[in-house]
Amino acid sequence: MDYKCLEDKVRDGKAKICILGVGYVGLPLALAFSKAGFKVIGFDVNEEKINGLTEGNDVTKDHDNNDIKEAISRGTEFTNDKTRIKECDIVIMCVPTPVKESKEPDMGFVRSATELAGSNLKAGSIVVLESTVYPGATEEIIIPILEKKGMKCGVDFSIGYSPERINVGDKEHTIDKIVKIVSGFDEETAGVLEVLYKKIISAGTYKARNIKTAEAAKSIENVQRDINIALANELALIFEKIGVDVMDVIEAAGTKWNFIKFYPGLVGGHCIPEDPYFLVHKAKRVGYNPKMILAGRDINNFMSLHTVNLLDEGLRKAGKKLGGSKILLMGLTFKKNVRDVRNTPTKEIVAELTKSGAEIVAYDPLVLKDNARKTFGIDIVDDLNELKGIDAIALLTDHDIFRSTPLDNLKKLFNGRPVLVDVRRFFDWKKAKDAGYIYLGFGFKPESPV
Ligand SMILES: NC(=O)c1ccc[n+]([C@@H]2O[C@H](COP(=O)([O-])OP(=O)(O)OC[C@H]3O[C@@H](n4cnc5c(N)ncnc54)[C@H](O)[C@@H]3O)[C@@H](O)[C@H]2O)c1
Repeated sequence: MDYKCLEDKVRDGKAKICILGVGYVGLPLALAFSKAGFKVIGFDVNEEKINGLTEGNDVTKDHDNNDIKEAISRGTEFTNDKTRIKECDIVIMCVPTPVKESKEPDMGFVRSATELAGSNLKAGSIVVLESTVYPGATEEIIIPILEKKGMKCGVDFSIGYSPERINVGDKEHTIDKIVKIVSGFDEETAGVLEVLYKKIISAGTYKARNIKTAEAAKSIENVQRDINIALANELALIFEKIGVDVMDVIEAAGTKWNFIKFYPGLVGGHCIPEDPYFLVHKAKRVGYNPKMILAGRDINNFMSLHTVNLLDEGLRKAGKKLGGSKILLMGLTFKKNVRDVRNTPTKEIVAELTKSGAEIVAYDPLVLKDNARKTFGIDIVDDLNELKGIDAIALLTDHDIFRSTPLDNLKKLFNGRPVLVDVRRFFDWKKAKDAGYIYLGFGFKPESPV
């Protein structure tokens, strides 16, 4: 393997890069490498996505189409022709790594992407995985597949792992501003990857000791966040019963120098609710049954049902029942200001409400109507004023756009005493109470006995 030659090519911006999987992670990466002057091939098995991108159109509507068109004018190509992978010096795989129903990692996409890379691999190239995996997965899964055709890792090609830490929808922590962990099969590979990623990451790179360390680092970032939120959720459940506001308690406790503020909420997305299961999988395989990580998952998973319980409680206070009530869900995505409806706890909430016989209506100007129908089986309204006869609202996602919808306007939609379940603690509960709402927030019910 001539690492020196490859490193020079990368340094000079002459290396050709293939991004395998141009989704939420792969597309911004392809655009960033293109902007840095590299020739980029964005490969994806999704034909519709490739057709859209080729016309400069992101079907997820998550990117500015002008950025895509500019990349194309610089020579970036989007294709589903796997033979094009052969042209590339660096192949970066950004494919999904979901968890199965059984909570075991589904490595099928990584396997199939590696098969594609392996059967079209150029000698002397580096294959990098960016997908989230359990410690050990990259070497365990990728090397045997890539070596199938007789090439040897470290001799004819090499591999690396560089976890993606992008926070979709976050305009502040953009890809260039997040330190990139890089790791390689050997020191030389890690060195090439440092040069490569420094071309697009102004925050710089961090070279992990080895691939397993980088994989483990990515897992624990999200495990830590999941557990911290789980603690905030557990506190919310306790404080709802004793009539203190968890937000006030966190503010007060936060005046101590070593108290870290975390807030209750629904946990969704592709990372926090899933990544812990990757580490759990690996831990079990080596004979340790994690307790704390799984306890955190259980609490956070429970918060969907808790949302429905709060709706039930509020409706009872208003003299109604969940079954037959008309519930307005505001915000369907897993976090604010994003369009992505995958892995959102809204799905469980919709299922529970449907089971209880409630009628569901929804409002989320960021979500495409088709996506809402496909994902949740519900229709979204374009305009809140189309609605009437609502019995309760559950605010599930705190999109900034909702700031322009005052409580008084919402009140007009109701049939009888208005019930407001505020999962995100978005509304001022005092104002809600003064306006006549029965308010129930995660971590505080003003009507609870003190
Ligand atoms: N979305 C995030 O916020 C985020 C953040 C950090 C890390 N990650 C991790 O990054 C990885 C990718 O996530 P994503 O959100 O970009 O997923 P995504 O579903 O948006 O994109 C993945 C893309 O890979 C394509 N694909 C599937 N199989 C393929 C194959 N064999 N060859 C080529 N393309 C293939 C899909 O068609 C899709 O376009 C996952 O491991 C995820 O956990 C995601």
